[in-house]
Order: sequence, then structure tokens, then C-alpha cells
Amino acid sequence: MAKSARRTEHRQPDRGRKHPDGALSACGDDATAPAARAARAGDERRADRALGSSREASRSRSARHVRRLDRTCTPDVQALFERCAAFFILAEGASPDTQAGARELETIIAGRSAAETFCLGVYHEGSLVAFLHLTENYPRQDEWWIGLFLVDPGLRRLGFGTEIHRAVSEWILENGGRRLWLGVLEQNRDAERFWRKLGYAERERQPYTMKSGAESVVILMSLPIISVSRA
Ligand SMILES: CC(C)(COP(=O)(O)OP(=O)(O)OC[C@H]1O[C@@H](n2cnc3c(N)ncnc32)[C@H](O)[C@@H]1OP(=O)(O)O)[C@@H](O)C(=O)NCCC(=O)NCCS
Repeated sequence: MAKSARRTEHRQPDRGRKHPDGALSACGDDATAPAARAARAGDERRADRALGSSREASRSRSARHVRRLDRTCTPDVQALFERCAAFFILAEGASPDTQAGARELETIIAGRSAAETFCLGVYHEGSLVAFLHLTENYPRQDEWWIGLFLVDPGLRRLGFGTEIHRAVSEWILENGGRRLWLGVLEQNRDAERFWRKLGYAERERQPYTMKSGAESVVILMSLPIISVSRA
């Protein structure tokens, strides 16, 4: 993912936001109000239904723990990022530094709000095995930007990324989203193949300067969400 294809700023997410949490529960969320608990239980079941069609039992079990992440999840995000060092070297020219996880959890695209920003994770046997950074209403109203999508290297090529993408797309559709966008760097050919297989179409290419200063090109791609739910 060409993370700096988006303009970002870092600040505290707004914990009091009233955004539909949809299929997703919060990491470390210990609210005890019965209504809140029931709502979250319903949400978890919806997530399970959405994710439960995975082809393999192990993948299915992993996918059952989609959570909305917050600052308390920083060590898990950092550990996943470090396991995914090869991606950061490819996309940024360097391994993730010790603050990379914390920064990602606080990243908000310039002009968008904390309420429109979602960090999602999938846990398997206590480990965070997938991470997504999503922004609602970007680049336009009712469009969503995938700022980062990572699957643990040990779980790749099992259909897991496809399964998470499908579940999250359904959740976004339920929340009024109509189109997904992302940027993939030209040198990340495996990821480009992944997005194209999901049906993303290239919209444009832009020059991109990696964190290391190296020059690259980002491919901007998009997908109408209706295609995902019909696939
Ligand atoms: C991209 C990524 C999220 C895909 O997750 P995944 O769980 O491995 O994806 P899937 O198993 O669902 O793959 C679906 C299809 O995408 C394509 N694909 C995925 N990974 C591929 C790879 N390494 N090489 C070639 N094709 C690949 C294949 O067509 C695959 O279907 P197949 O296995 O039946 O051939 C994962 O590889 C990853 O985290 N990569 C590093 C981070 C990254 O590049 N993120 C995207 C940034 S833009």
C-alpha cells in the first residue's frame, strides 16, 4: 500500500464518536451496559456470518475475531508490522521503526475525522494476524479508502485476505459505502495481483516518493462495492 498516497495527520481518535460499529467490536472494549453488550454480541454474530464462509477451518476461526482496534492494541499492531517487515521495506524502503504501530493507529487522513477512521484487526489464538486501516468518505462521500491491509506472512495465499476483504466490504456496504479505493506501489506486484483478482480496476498512476527518498509510482485502483457482494 502506498501509504503516503493519502495526506495524513496524526491525532487522537475521537473515542466518543457515534459511528455505527457494524460488524465490528472494539479491542479492549469493556463497556458493561446491557444494551451495548447486546449490540456488540449482535455485531459479532453478524461478523461471524459474514466471515464464516471461509474455505478452511483455520482461516474461519481466525476470521471470527474481527475487532476494531484502539491504542490498547498498539503492541499487537507493532508485532504484526515487524513480522511484515518485508512489506515495509518494499513500500517504504525500511523496516518499521518502534513507533510504526502506534503511528498507524493514530493516522487520520487530512480533512477527514477520527469518526471516519477505522483500524480493524483479526485475531487468531491471541495474535493479531491481519490489519486494515480504513477511511470513510475518502476520496469522496460514500467512498472508502483502504490505507493499509496486511495479512500475517504465515497465513498468506490461503484465501484469508479475500475473506476479510469480502466481510469488510459487506460491512461497509451496510454502512452506506459504495466504492473502495486504494493505492498500490508498482513494485508490489503480488499485492497488485491480489487487488486485480478481487476486481479492482486501475484508475491512474502517480509519482510517489518513498520514505527512504526512493522514487516509485503508485497505482490508484477502485472497486464498486456491489461487485464484491455479488461475487
Ligand atoms: C496482499 C495480501 C493482503 C493478500 O492476502 P492473502 O491472504 O495472501 O490473499 P489471498 O490468499 O486471499 O489471495 C487471493 C489471490 O490474490 C493473488 N495473490 C495473493 N498473494 C499473491 C502473491 N504473493 N503472489 C501472486 N498472487 C497473489 C492470487 O491470485 C490469490 O489467489 P490464489 O492463491 O488462488 O492464486 C497479503 O499478501 C499481504 O499482507 N501482503 C503484504 C502487505 C501488502 O502488500 N498489502 C497490500 C498493500 S497495497
